[in-house]
Amino acid sequence: MDVTISVSRYNPDSNLPGSYFQDYQIEVDDSSTVLDALIKVREEIDGSLALRCSCRSAICGSCAMRINGQARLACNTKITDILKRGSGSVSVEPAGNMTVVKDLVVDFSPFWTKVRQIEPWLQPNRPPPEQEYIADDDDMLHLAGVMDCIMCGACVSDCTVLNVDKNFLGPAALAKAYRFVADPRDDADVIRLGDLNKYGGIWDCTRCMQCVEVCPKDVDPMSRIMALRDKAMEEGYTKTYGARHAKAFSDLVEHSGWLNELQLPIRTFGLFNVKQMFKLFPVGIRSIINGKLPPIVHRSITGVENVRRIFERVRDKR
Ligand code: SF4
Ligand code: SF4
Ligand code: FES
Repeated sequence: MDVTISVSRYNPDSNLPGSYFQDYQIEVDDSSTVLDALIKVREEIDGSLALRCSCRSAICGSCAMRINGQARLACNTKITDILKRGSGSVSVEPAGNMTVVKDLVVDFSPFWTKVRQIEPWLQPNRPPPEQEYIADDDDMLHLAGVMDCIMCGACVSDCTVLNVDKNFLGPAALAKAYRFVADPRDDADVIRLGDLNKYGGIWDCTRCMQCVEVCPKDVDPMSRIMALRDKAMEEGYTKTYGARHAKAFSDLVEHSGWLNELQLPIRTFGLFNVKQMFKLFPVGIRSIINGKLPPIVHRSITGVENVRRIFERVRDKR
């Protein structure tokens, strides 16, 4: 089968100002991966193509790149699975949210800086055991999913918050933080949660689910971030706007069975927080213009007691 591999090229040493796409026509078979195709291009057509790979088995995490616009591991993406319908072509770009070094190679330094920032090592604060620190099987099984992370950076590439705010710790580092906060052998969770509660931490995720969508190991970073939020609130970190928003949202729905959208910003920011209220002013104006202004008098829904029962049951199960 003949396919066109359209590769984003960038060479900092060339006279060209930015990146451009270069097409390569190659023959592949049904089992060929995108990485097979790129290696074929490099070995048979253009030895100047730069890319990173090692294991070719979805283990080392070095071949994450954007394939047809979405972050994937090139070594476990079969070309036949992602051929653009009818076009016979595949586009390949470097991973996003990281600076391109050359062609498909990106600079991972900020990625590792953020992973180091969450102090990814066990910090027990108890007398050392005679032999090793023991953890229950169930606890470790629960952590196995997050320990599957291969640090490929696919989630970071497609994170919508990192796209606009480089200060955000990002899904990979936060998933790693969860791995230590939830580890029964670690005693630094309260300090860790305090750090994660700051700007750039757990409350900056918008829950867009991109990291869940693209993670090749089903680590589900977004759910780990949500679990960290719960743990932070349980430990008394309730003063951030994020925590106040979450609490207000749940209290309002429990009270009337649906969200009181006028009360939500007031409870989140405080009525006399002029700066934040002023920022919401344009949203209010747009709501009025588009006929979306919430009712001034907010009434409970019929059967609100059933909604309250759900909240009670969830509380009882904790
Ligand atoms: S869910 Fe959160 S961490 Fe994941 S990609 Fe979206 S903003 Fe980033
Ligand atoms: S969480 Fe998934 S996508 Fe993100 S670095 Fe780990 S394995 Fe890769
Ligand atoms: S080459 Fe190792 S994960 Fe793709």
